[in-house]
Amino acid sequence: MIIAANLKTNLTRKQTAEYIAELENYVSNGSTQEVLVFPAMSSLDSYDGKVIVGAQNAYPTQNGAFTGEIGTEQLDEFGIKTILIGHSERRHVLGETQEELVKKFNFYKELGYKIVYCIGEPLEKREAGKEEMMKYISTQYKGIDTSYENLIIAYEPVWAIGTGLTPTLEDIENIHTDLKEKSTAPLLYGGSVKVTNAQEVLALKNVDGILVGSAALYVEHFCTMIGYAQKLQK
Ligand code: PGA
Repeated sequence: MIIAANLKTNLTRKQTAEYIAELENYVSNGSTQEVLVFPAMSSLDSYDGKVIVGAQNAYPTQNGAFTGEIGTEQLDEFGIKTILIGHSERRHVLGETQEELVKKFNFYKELGYKIVYCIGEPLEKREAGKEEMMKYISTQYKGIDTSYENLIIAYEPVWAIGTGLTPTLEDIENIHTDLKEKSTAPLLYGGSVKVTNAQEVLALKNVDGILVGSAALYVEHFCTMIGYAQKLQK
Protein backbone atom coordinates (compact mmCIF):
# COMPACT_ATOMS: atom_id res chain seq x y z
CA MET A 1 0.00 0.00 0.00
CA ILE A 2 0.98 3.64 -0.25
CA ILE A 3 1.43 5.53 3.00
CA ALA A 4 2.12 9.23 2.54
CA ALA A 5 2.90 12.07 4.95
CA ASN A 6 2.17 15.67 4.06
CA LEU A 7 4.22 17.72 6.50
CA LYS A 8 2.79 21.00 5.16
CA THR A 9 4.42 24.11 6.71
CA ASN A 10 5.85 22.21 9.65
CA LEU A 11 9.28 21.15 10.92
CA THR A 12 12.63 22.78 10.33
CA ARG A 13 15.23 21.41 7.95
CA LYS A 14 17.01 19.71 10.87
CA GLN A 15 13.79 18.25 12.29
CA THR A 16 12.81 16.98 8.84
CA ALA A 17 16.17 15.28 8.39
CA GLU A 18 15.73 13.58 11.77
CA TYR A 19 12.16 12.63 10.87
CA ILE A 20 13.20 11.02 7.60
CA ALA A 21 16.15 9.25 9.25
CA GLU A 22 13.82 7.69 11.84
CA LEU A 23 11.33 6.76 9.18
CA GLU A 24 14.01 5.21 7.00
CA ASN A 25 15.21 3.21 9.96
CA TYR A 26 11.68 1.87 10.52
CA VAL A 27 10.94 1.19 6.86
CA SER A 28 14.25 -0.53 6.16
CA ASN A 29 13.34 -3.08 8.81
CA GLY A 30 11.33 -5.32 6.53
CA SER A 31 8.50 -3.03 5.44
CA THR A 32 7.29 -3.54 1.88
CA GLN A 33 4.98 -0.50 1.87
CA GLU A 34 5.54 2.44 -0.47
CA VAL A 35 6.27 5.35 1.87
CA LEU A 36 6.15 8.95 0.64
CA VAL A 37 7.01 12.13 2.54
CA PHE A 38 6.28 15.68 1.42
CA PRO A 39 8.39 18.07 3.52
CA ALA A 40 8.26 21.87 3.47
CA MET A 41 10.10 23.35 0.51
CA SER A 42 13.08 24.61 2.54
CA SER A 43 13.58 21.12 3.98
CA LEU A 44 13.98 19.37 0.64
CA ASP A 45 17.25 17.50 0.29
CA SER A 46 18.77 14.43 -1.35
CA TYR A 47 17.81 11.27 0.47
CA ASP A 48 19.00 7.80 -0.36
CA GLY A 49 16.82 5.00 0.82
CA LYS A 50 13.38 3.43 0.61
CA VAL A 51 11.44 6.51 1.71
CA ILE A 52 10.41 8.59 -1.29
CA VAL A 53 10.67 12.33 -0.75
CA GLY A 54 8.43 14.54 -2.86
CA ALA A 55 7.61 18.23 -3.30
CA GLN A 56 4.38 19.67 -1.89
CA ASN A 57 4.33 22.05 -4.83
CA ALA A 58 6.42 23.37 -7.70
CA TYR A 59 5.78 25.64 -10.65
CA PRO A 60 5.53 24.11 -14.12
CA THR A 61 8.90 25.44 -15.24
CA GLN A 62 12.55 24.54 -15.31
CA ASN A 63 13.49 27.98 -13.97
CA GLY A 64 12.60 31.62 -14.61
CA ALA A 65 10.96 34.66 -13.08
CA PHE A 66 8.33 33.13 -10.76
CA THR A 67 8.96 34.76 -7.40
CA GLY A 68 8.33 32.44 -4.48
CA GLU A 69 8.17 29.30 -6.60
CA ILE A 70 10.58 26.51 -7.43
CA GLY A 71 10.97 24.55 -10.67
CA THR A 72 12.73 21.45 -11.88
CA GLU A 73 16.16 23.09 -11.63
CA GLN A 74 15.71 23.10 -7.86
CA LEU A 75 14.02 19.69 -7.69
CA ASP A 76 16.70 18.07 -9.83
CA GLU A 77 19.35 19.27 -7.40
CA PHE A 78 17.90 16.81 -4.89
CA GLY A 79 16.82 14.12 -7.34
CA ILE A 80 13.14 14.73 -6.55
CA LYS A 81 10.76 13.08 -8.99
CA THR A 82 7.54 13.07 -6.97
CA ILE A 83 5.03 15.90 -6.57
CA LEU A 84 1.73 16.59 -4.85
CA ILE A 85 -0.73 18.44 -7.09
CA GLY A 86 -4.19 19.81 -6.32
CA HIS A 87 -4.10 19.64 -2.53
CA SER A 88 -7.16 21.30 -1.05
CA GLU A 89 -5.06 23.97 0.64
CA ARG A 90 -3.55 24.92 -2.73
CA ARG A 91 -6.99 24.95 -4.35
CA HIS A 92 -8.95 26.69 -1.60
CA VAL A 93 -6.44 28.70 0.46
CA LEU A 94 -3.99 29.64 -2.28
CA GLY A 95 -6.56 29.84 -5.05
CA GLU A 96 -5.07 27.48 -7.65
CA THR A 97 -7.59 26.87 -10.41
CA GLN A 98 -8.27 23.58 -12.19
CA GLU A 99 -6.73 25.13 -15.30
CA GLU A 100 -3.48 25.91 -13.47
CA LEU A 101 -3.44 22.46 -11.92
CA VAL A 102 -3.87 20.83 -15.32
CA LYS A 103 -0.87 22.81 -16.64
CA LYS A 104 1.16 21.68 -13.66
CA PHE A 105 -0.03 18.09 -14.06
CA ASN A 106 0.84 17.95 -17.75
CA PHE A 107 4.24 19.52 -17.23
CA TYR A 108 5.27 17.04 -14.52
CA LYS A 109 3.64 14.12 -16.31
CA GLU A 110 5.72 14.92 -19.38
CA LEU A 111 8.81 14.57 -17.16
CA GLY A 112 7.63 11.23 -15.78
CA TYR A 113 7.09 12.42 -12.20
CA LYS A 114 5.13 10.33 -9.74
CA ILE A 115 2.11 12.57 -9.19
CA VAL A 116 -0.15 12.42 -6.15
CA TYR A 117 -3.21 14.27 -7.40
CA CYS A 118 -5.70 15.36 -4.75
CA ILE A 119 -9.43 15.71 -5.10
CA GLY A 120 -12.27 16.23 -2.64
CA GLU A 121 -15.44 18.18 -1.99
CA PRO A 122 -16.14 21.07 0.39
CA LEU A 123 -18.87 20.59 3.00
CA GLU A 124 -21.61 22.41 1.09
CA LYS A 125 -21.16 20.05 -1.87
CA ARG A 126 -21.38 17.01 0.37
CA GLU A 127 -24.50 18.39 2.01
CA ALA A 128 -26.06 19.00 -1.39
CA GLY A 129 -26.35 15.23 -1.91
CA LYS A 130 -24.43 12.49 -3.66
CA GLU A 131 -25.20 13.61 -7.21
CA GLU A 132 -24.03 17.21 -6.61
CA MET A 133 -21.00 15.97 -4.78
CA MET A 134 -19.93 13.59 -7.55
CA LYS A 135 -20.58 16.30 -10.12
CA TYR A 136 -18.23 18.60 -8.23
CA ILE A 137 -15.56 15.93 -7.90
CA SER A 138 -15.83 15.23 -11.64
CA THR A 139 -14.74 18.83 -12.34
CA GLN A 140 -11.49 18.03 -10.55
CA TYR A 141 -10.81 15.27 -13.07
CA LYS A 142 -11.21 17.71 -15.96
CA GLY A 143 -8.07 17.81 -18.10
CA ILE A 144 -6.30 15.17 -16.00
CA ASP A 145 -4.94 12.07 -17.72
CA THR A 146 -6.39 9.47 -15.38
CA SER A 147 -4.53 6.67 -17.14
CA TYR A 148 -1.09 8.19 -16.48
CA GLU A 149 1.08 5.32 -15.27
CA ASN A 150 2.73 7.25 -12.42
CA LEU A 151 -0.50 8.68 -11.08
CA ILE A 152 -1.74 8.23 -7.53
CA ILE A 153 -5.06 9.83 -6.61
CA ALA A 154 -5.83 11.03 -3.08
CA TYR A 155 -9.46 11.54 -2.12
CA GLU A 156 -9.56 14.08 0.68
CA PRO A 157 -12.87 15.69 1.62
CA VAL A 158 -12.01 19.35 2.32
CA TRP A 159 -14.13 19.37 5.49
CA ALA A 160 -12.22 16.40 6.89
CA ILE A 161 -8.75 17.91 6.51
CA GLY A 162 -7.26 18.96 9.83
CA THR A 163 -10.66 18.97 11.52
CA GLY A 164 -10.80 15.61 13.25
CA LEU A 165 -13.94 14.83 11.24
CA THR A 166 -14.06 11.92 8.82
CA PRO A 167 -16.74 10.39 6.62
CA THR A 168 -18.06 7.08 7.90
CA LEU A 169 -16.14 4.00 6.82
CA GLU A 170 -19.10 3.06 4.65
CA ASP A 171 -19.00 6.47 2.98
CA ILE A 172 -15.29 6.19 2.28
CA GLU A 173 -15.73 2.76 0.77
CA ASN A 174 -18.68 3.87 -1.39
CA ILE A 175 -16.95 6.96 -2.69
CA HIS A 176 -13.76 5.06 -3.39
CA THR A 177 -15.73 2.46 -5.31
CA ASP A 178 -17.29 5.22 -7.45
CA LEU A 179 -13.94 6.93 -7.95
CA LYS A 180 -12.31 3.70 -9.09
CA GLU A 181 -14.62 3.81 -12.06
CA LYS A 182 -13.01 7.07 -13.12
CA SER A 183 -9.46 5.80 -12.81
CA THR A 184 -7.75 2.58 -11.87
CA ALA A 185 -4.81 4.52 -10.38
CA PRO A 186 -4.03 3.73 -6.73
CA LEU A 187 -6.51 5.64 -4.58
CA LEU A 188 -5.55 7.02 -1.17
CA TYR A 189 -7.88 8.36 1.48
CA GLY A 190 -6.88 11.52 3.36
CA GLY A 191 -8.50 13.76 5.95
CA SER A 192 -8.02 13.33 9.71
CA VAL A 193 -6.42 9.91 9.45
CA LYS A 194 -4.82 9.03 12.78
CA VAL A 195 -3.42 6.04 14.61
CA THR A 196 -6.91 5.42 16.01
CA ASN A 197 -8.70 5.11 12.64
CA ALA A 198 -5.96 4.28 10.12
CA GLN A 199 -6.27 0.53 10.47
CA GLU A 200 -9.97 0.43 9.63
CA VAL A 201 -9.58 2.92 6.79
CA LEU A 202 -6.72 0.93 5.27
CA ALA A 203 -8.76 -2.26 5.47
CA LEU A 204 -11.56 -0.85 3.28
CA LYS A 205 -12.13 -2.11 -0.23
CA ASN A 206 -10.71 0.21 -2.90
CA VAL A 207 -8.52 2.05 -0.39
CA ASP A 208 -4.93 1.63 -1.58
CA GLY A 209 -3.32 3.78 1.07
CA ILE A 210 -3.56 6.98 3.09
CA LEU A 211 -2.34 10.56 2.92
CA VAL A 212 -1.77 11.86 6.43
CA GLY A 213 -1.23 15.44 7.61
CA SER A 214 -1.34 16.37 11.31
CA ALA A 215 -1.00 12.85 12.70
CA ALA A 216 2.06 12.19 10.53
CA LEU A 217 3.99 14.96 12.31
CA TYR A 218 4.70 12.39 14.99
CA VAL A 219 7.03 10.01 13.26
CA GLU A 220 6.19 7.18 15.64
CA HIS A 221 2.48 7.56 14.79
CA PHE A 222 3.26 7.55 11.10
CA CYS A 223 5.37 4.41 11.53
CA THR A 224 2.50 2.75 13.42
CA MET A 225 0.26 3.41 10.41
CA ILE A 226 2.84 1.89 8.06
CA GLY A 227 2.84 -1.12 10.38
CA TYR A 228 -0.96 -1.43 10.06
CA ALA A 229 -0.65 -1.49 6.27
CA GLN A 230 2.06 -4.10 6.49
CA LYS A 231 -0.14 -6.33 8.64
CA LEU A 232 -3.05 -6.09 6.23
CA GLN A 233 -0.94 -7.45 3.36
CA LYS A 234 -3.35 -6.05 0.80
P1 PGA B 1 -4.93 15.92 8.02
O1 PGA B 1 -4.41 16.44 6.59
O2 PGA B 1 -4.45 14.52 8.16
O3 PGA B 1 -4.31 16.87 9.02
O4 PGA B 1 -6.41 16.01 8.00
C1 PGA B 1 -4.44 15.61 5.47
C2 PGA B 1 -3.95 16.34 4.26
O5 PGA B 1 -4.11 17.56 4.19
O6 PGA B 1 -3.38 15.73 3.34
